[in-house]
Amino acid sequence: MLEDVKLIDLPKILDERGNLSFFETNNHLPFDIKRTYWIYDVPGGETRGGHSYNTNEEFVIALSGSFDIILTDGFEVKTFSLNRSYYGLYIPSGIWRHMGNFSTNSVAFVAASTDYDPSDYERDYAAFINKR
Ligand code: TYD
Repeated sequence: MLEDVKLIDLPKILDERGNLSFFETNNHLPFDIKRTYWIYDVPGGETRGGHSYNTNEEFVIALSGSFDIILTDGFEVKTFSLNRSYYGLYIPSGIWRHMGNFSTNSVAFVAASTDYDPSDYERDYAAFINKR
């Protein structure tokens, strides 16, 4: 559900030598981390995503730079701009998403609740809408 999407603030350990943030399954996320991946070297103007997951839940951080995540449940659209590495966006399953507006050298880091499974993807927007 779109109302379950939420920004999650992470600990920020400020240090003159450089700041540090972290997240732990048990303390910060509503799911157990099974996999991580990251998106980088995105050419200007490109978009990623364009699908929903049937079961996979994700937590997305802009480790570097900035990008937008556009989400919809088929009724309402919400856009989140991520541009700091000390918070991230929790996206439950069943939400259609795009990522775009990537800044130069941005890195999107994603923690996921399931192993990669192509059959968990819904890539057909009409089919996604029909399941609502
Ligand atoms: P995909 O999730 O389809 O990216 P996008 O939604 O931005 O188009 O992933 C792109 C490719 O990477 C796809 O062929 C599958 C592969 N992939 C993995 O093998 N493991 C993973 O954990 C992920 C996320 C993708």
